Amino acid sequence: MSEHDDPQVAAAHEHKRFRGEHPIVVEGLVNRFGDFTVHENLDLKVERGEILGVVGGSGTGKSVLMRSIIGLQIPAEGSVEVFGKSMTEAEPDEVLGVRSRWGVLFQGGALFSTLTVGENVQVPLKQFYPEIDAGLLDEIARYKVLLSGLPEDAVSKYPSELSGGMRKRAGLARALALDPELLFLDEPTAGLDPIGAAKFDTLTRELKETLGLTVFLITHDLDTLYEICDRVAVLADKQVIAVGTIPELLETDHPWIDEYFNGPRGRAAQQSRERGKALDKSAEGEA
Ligand SMILES: Nc1ncnc2c1ncn2[C@@H]1O[C@H](COP(=O)(O)OP(=O)(O)OP(=O)(O)O)[C@@H](O)[C@H]1O
Ligand SMILES: [Mg+2]
Repeated sequence: MSEHDDPQVAAAHEHKRFRGEHPIVVEGLVNRFGDFTVHENLDLKVERGEILGVVGGSGTGKSVLMRSIIGLQIPAEGSVEVFGKSMTEAEPDEVLGVRSRWGVLFQGGALFSTLTVGENVQVPLKQFYPEIDAGLLDEIARYKVLLSGLPEDAVSKYPSELSGGMRKRAGLARALALDPELLFLDEPTAGLDPIGAAKFDTLTRELKETLGLTVFLITHDLDTLYEICDRVAVLADKQVIAVGTIPELLETDHPWIDEYFNGPRGRAAQQSRERGKALDKSAEGEA
């Protein structure tokens, strides 16, 4: 079979950019592990072009929700549509076509330790575009590494030679390899110092704006929620109990939401956001 007959390659080449309102629609999702139910009738719609923050206590099923959306976890019930295609009922070729349109940064990074950063970035490129020659692969990988804010020499380094923050950026470079329309980030700033985390947030926002991405961003980081998320979805009681801007969420009077955003850490994040805005205003005044 020539590479041009490969359905995986054909599917990757065929797509048009998604123009609908909701790149992700989850309805009635049920996920179980044995007797343990993680999600029960969970609904969620992600809007095109937004950064949706996904929050919830540890173990509430944020990563499992992401895995269900990208087809790594087959739900017991319910439907998941990505770019208008059912992930549970579409033909395998169609699912492959959709897969080539998202990038994923897994919790913990999940880089291949035996490959350099550049080779890691090339993995999805080789999978979906086997016709690209080695020189161009190197060039694309180098570009993605720079786009992710890493120095050029990181291309030839192994993950073990990088700091935690650099590894996250390398994971981001790989997630951006296929020029995705949709980016999944699972705890991208966990383990980073506050300055590194803030820089990663800024990068996420810039990439979203320049590349026109929709971002599904799982995080515990309150600063991230205040700084870059357009809306926030809250997971609790096996469902998405609320989705909206932070002021909208605060109106729901749900005890977990209240505790989360109005607890000491929530208030500190809010104050730092307000201080940042005041500084921006005074800088504008001086300019
Ligand atoms: N493959 C699996 N087999 C059995 N149970 C699982 C599996 N994956 C996840 N779980 C369970 O499902 C629940 C939700 O897990 P998940 O990883 O989605 O949590 P999370 O909200 O992402 O938590 P954290 O904030 O700690 O990352 C947990 O109780 C977890 O133990
Ligand atoms: Mg998780």
